[in-house]
Amino acid sequence: MVLGPIHMAYILAALLFILALAGLSKQETAKLGCLSGMVGMTIALLATFAQVESATGFILIIIAMAIGAGIGIYVARKVAMTQMPEMIACLHSFVGLAAVLVGYNSFLELGGVAPETVTIPVNASADEIAALLESAGAAVAGAASAMTVGELNTHLVEIFLGVFIGAVTFTGSIVAYGKLNGTYKLRIFKSSPLVIPGGHWLNLAALIVSLFLMIWFMASDTPSVAPLVIMTLIAFVFGIHLVAAIGGADMPVVISMLNSYSGWAAAASGFMLSNDLLIVTGALVGSSGAILSYIMCRAMNRSFISVIAGGFGNESAAASSDEEMGEYREMKCPEVAELLKNSSSVIIAPGYGMAVAQAQNAVAQMTEKLQARGVQVRFAIHPVAGRLPGHMNVLLAEAKVPYDIVLEMDEINDDFENTDTVLVIGANDTVNPAALENPNSPIAGMPVLEVWKARNVVVFKRSMNTGYAGVQNPLFFKENTAMCFGDAKKSIEEIVSAL
Ligand code: TAP
Repeated sequence: MVLGPIHMAYILAALLFILALAGLSKQETAKLGCLSGMVGMTIALLATFAQVESATGFILIIIAMAIGAGIGIYVARKVAMTQMPEMIACLHSFVGLAAVLVGYNSFLELGGVAPETVTIPVNASADEIAALLESAGAAVAGAASAMTVGELNTHLVEIFLGVFIGAVTFTGSIVAYGKLNGTYKLRIFKSSPLVIPGGHWLNLAALIVSLFLMIWFMASDTPSVAPLVIMTLIAFVFGIHLVAAIGGADMPVVISMLNSYSGWAAAASGFMLSNDLLIVTGALVGSSGAILSYIMCRAMNRSFISVIAGGFGNESAAASSDEEMGEYREMKCPEVAELLKNSSSVIIAPGYGMAVAQAQNAVAQMTEKLQARGVQVRFAIHPVAGRLPGHMNVLLAEAKVPYDIVLEMDEINDDFENTDTVLVIGANDTVNPAALENPNSPIAGMPVLEVWKARNVVVFKRSMNTGYAGVQNPLFFKENTAMCFGDAKKSIEEIVSAL
């Protein structure tokens, strides 16, 4: 095995992964970022192949990769943009499961390998015979006997933590998948938080019991599988409860936290397999996911600790979809077109409904038409609009909307009061004034786009249904708001024709 080139390949791949993360932080460099990641992964795969010593191992890897890649390509081609967040949650669960399996495999390897027949050549010297017997002895007694006590303990901690993080990531991601999908009837998959009395104490108890199980796991002379299995079961339930307890508007933070956990699970697998690149890559994913979660918490005015501890401190919040709010006003598409013709400044606030309707191209066409008439058009992007970070930015970039008119919430929130018309296209929670006005609302405290401050607001949606958080929106009942009902794509296309 040639180590020099492989280590160099690993370092190069790790650098490319860092470049990928840096590139993805800006729209202009995102494509380059993706390319760096892809080249880095290709190098990493080639370096891994170069280390496979047996032909059988090589063939098995090729078969596994062909099956995985086949399924991956099929799913990636089939998945709609609106299903991307669920797919990401699903992929996180695979990383978690992989960490659990790697952990159990590492544990089984400690238990011993099959005894070997030692062939001693007739003319072997005494030293050669001793060396052969010694190597066979280590093999027969198992990998554990080839380690010092310190190394064995470290390895056991790696296995235990790797399996724990992996198991929490696995079930947590499955619950996140169900919550994002929104079609499953099971209570844990509902978008509203599942609040079990004393739930936080249960979480704490799960952690303490797992700690004692780790002590048991490490204390016995021959590590027993029992504490590992009990801990795995506890971690499975812990993962379910942790994510089921978080609901509504806090889900984005959960997604990025699970992203982070999946990174740490991969890093733990890297330690178990003694693979430097997996450790580095896992740590990159883990830390960038944690930073993203922290940024999202700050953007949404949520306590980071509260969210990662399964909604700790948010018990009072309850969804309120059927509140009576008064009368709303309706406007048809030709009237909206007239309103736009008479506006000199327009801000578009897109949300999840724009993604569902795939209205981004129609929205881009409308923007061009308005700009041609001398209307100033800008976009206001809430940090958690849609169902995954940057969801709206990706859609608008796909429709070739220029980056310089796409502004973040903080950059544009003060401008609404000087704006003639705001078009809310499939957004709901992210433009809900209840977040600022009603301290008992489940989304209380979350900063929102203050669209109601504009002279006119038109909301494009299909019905008076609530958004993801399940709360009614007082914006729809304000005097300066009009509802334009229908599929957003069809409505905008009608407006484009009228313009
Ligand atoms: P939402 O609050 O989810 O509201 C979307 C609205 O779009 C719905 O009220 C729906 O109303 C409307 N809609 C759906 N299909 C439509 C169509 N074809 N045409 C027109 N309208 C349509 O959207 P938002 O304001 O973007 O807020 C995002 C929410 O998701 C937040 O609560 C956020 O916390 C959560 N979340 C975000 C993320 C990330 S990372 N961004 C991840 C998970 C959860 P109708 O049914 O009446 O049409």
